[in-house]
Amino acid sequence: MSANDFLEWKSGIQQHMESALAAILPDPGIAPDRLHDAMRYAVLGGGKRVRALLLHAAGQLSGASVTQLDRAACAVELIHAYSLVHDDMPCMDNDVLRRGKPTVHVEYDEATALLAGDALQTLAFQVLAEQPLTASPVDQLEMVALLALASGSRGMAGGQAIDLAAVGQQISREELEFMHLHKTGALIRASVLLGARCGRGCDPRLLAPLDHYGKLVGLLFQVVDDVLDAQSDTATLGKTAGKDADQDKPTYVSLLGLSAARELSHNLLHEALAAIAPLDDRANRLRELASYIVHRKF
Ligand code: IPE
Ligand code: IPE
Ligand code: MG
Ligand code: MG
Ligand code: MG
Repeated sequence: MSANDFLEWKSGIQQHMESALAAILPDPGIAPDRLHDAMRYAVLGGGKRVRALLLHAAGQLSGASVTQLDRAACAVELIHAYSLVHDDMPCMDNDVLRRGKPTVHVEYDEATALLAGDALQTLAFQVLAEQPLTASPVDQLEMVALLALASGSRGMAGGQAIDLAAVGQQISREELEFMHLHKTGALIRASVLLGARCGRGCDPRLLAPLDHYGKLVGLLFQVVDDVLDAQSDTATLGKTAGKDADQDKPTYVSLLGLSAARELSHNLLHEALAAIAPLDDRANRLRELASYIVHRKF
């Protein structure tokens, strides 16, 4: 497992996801064309595809086919893209730049951004439900329920509600962790589990360690996002740097300071690696991804 090998695998999946998503999204020529155009704008031509990578990496343990993993990964990336479109709207973080381009409500308009997000969300569930992805339909129903739970009020959307209510507030470390585990962690955790449950499914004894890994990596991902917001620049991030402090958002940086937040990300990496230490070499991509998530520059 060399660094180059990982980079090749990562860019292979990223390219592959671009075509899979482009094929799934409605054609811009199909009416209503402005909405379909906005959906494609939100999803294509950017994004690290971290959730898809995690799903594919966990899929190495489940014996699923690439086609099955692609579909499940598209579903997760569609939910993620919808969450970004809404997160950027004036009623939420009011951001003008995303993935190096004007945000959807700036490029189109607010109503189109709202509807594009709604339609991306329902498309995700259509994609997850309309073709067999597991040996038994009951297992696939569980995958649908898992993604719904991770996206809804007890997952991402709930975390976003907490984030908005916390603006300008002093919150405890426990509350901050709860918020991050939900707004970002839930979908990342679900990505790992969806990969593990695809196809024949992994050995059921691996689900608990994989779930623990997913939870830690989900938290870790947002800790690093907080650090990068404070430490990096707009050109590197492709989104406006320094927004969290400007908007008085509680983050790991505002609570602990930059260097302690960085240190926490390294501790979480060690914990995530420990969670899957008993797993064989088929978990190597998950190990490499956890390290990439900590060391990423954007
Ligand atoms: C940004 O997610 C929003 C958070 C949950 C922190 P990503 O950093 O994965 O965004 P893209 O998909 O690569 O643009
Ligand atoms: C977003 O967190 C989490 C989502 C569910 C979209 P942030 O608001 O920190 O994400 P960025 O920094 O805008 O990408
Ligand atoms: Mg936000
Ligand atoms: Mg935001
Ligand atoms: Mg952020």
